[in-house]
Amino acid sequence: MKRREFLKLGAIATGTLAVAGTLRTLTPVASAQSGSVPTVDRLVMTNVVDNIYDIFAKGGKLDTITVQRAALRFGADTLLAEHGLAYHLESVRGAEQRQVLLDFSLTERNLFNNYKVLKLDPAGADALIISHGHADHYGALPDYARLVQGRAKPGLTLYAGGEDTFCHRVAATPAGTIDQGQLDRPGLEATGLKVTLAKQPTVVAGHAFTSGQIPRLTDFERPPAAARLEVGPMGSACSVTHFGVTQVETKPGELVADTFQGEHATAYHVKDRGLVVITSCGHAGVINSVRQAQKASGVDKVHAIVGGFHLAPAPDEIVAKTVEAFKGIDPDYIIPMHCTGLNTIMAVHNAMPKKLVMPSTGTRVIFGA
Ligand SMILES: [Fe+2]
Ligand SMILES: [Fe+2]
Repeated sequence: MKRREFLKLGAIATGTLAVAGTLRTLTPVASAQSGSVPTVDRLVMTNVVDNIYDIFAKGGKLDTITVQRAALRFGADTLLAEHGLAYHLESVRGAEQRQVLLDFSLTERNLFNNYKVLKLDPAGADALIISHGHADHYGALPDYARLVQGRAKPGLTLYAGGEDTFCHRVAATPAGTIDQGQLDRPGLEATGLKVTLAKQPTVVAGHAFTSGQIPRLTDFERPPAAARLEVGPMGSACSVTHFGVTQVETKPGELVADTFQGEHATAYHVKDRGLVVITSCGHAGVINSVRQAQKASGVDKVHAIVGGFHLAPAPDEIVAKTVEAFKGIDPDYIIPMHCTGLNTIMAVHNAMPKKLVMPSTGTRVIFGA
């Protein structure tokens, strides 16, 4: 078996899948041209926390990326997985190096443990990005802000995609509502962190860019049916006027369907490779997210699609349409994490096995030279 096949099969074959500042707003997307986003020579993406930790996953060099797996540990310094997602993104352009932290998983215990095991300095970040307001992505962010208070780089900024990142969310299930918490913006700012709402595509730390709010272009990608937002007082950041919903009778305290208006993707343009697009949780739709990154940057070539695609609960028809759209985009690699689902991983494996790279907590992927 070739090394590439080891990589793609890693988690599937072993059966471990289930356990596991510089601010510049880009040209408006409609007129974006190639060159409107920075180009980096190299991106080292570390999957700090993910849903699985697969000790058998194989690393190695593929055609144009290198996959490094964390060393096996059985002691107190083991990596910890949970239903959550966090990344450390280190990019290089010439002699310039930048570190961006994207999402902060669910618990500080796991996030801080993994920063330590992976020898990452959380106080070294040049910028922070939060993809959306779900606790499995922001959970340890308040703890992080307190951890680095007084040690963080001056002006450290958190980029969020909209007001709704800081609104109270719940899931409405047949068994009742499940509280998904609320990210405390004033609490973050009280630690000295700056918060910027990057509703338009925005350059982050001079190397990365965010997608801005993501237009819904496809007819098959829908937000989770159970997702709800709690309405705040009229005129507040969490009032319906900011949600983009149309209910006119909604009162404060009531729940409205969550459209994830403020969710944004994170992307890099890697020299001679193309775009690396990280969807995080993908409620806006992985295809919509990639299309928006292409439009915002003016770069068509997609090197890698990374992240949670939130298709685990999706019917086969939606998975099939997504895979067909992947074929049209024709990325070099697909790295499905977090909430993607075995259904979609298997479908990608069947349709384009050479493009599939299985993630794992602690995995590093090196893009570029
Ligand atoms: Fe989410
Ligand atoms: Fe998530």
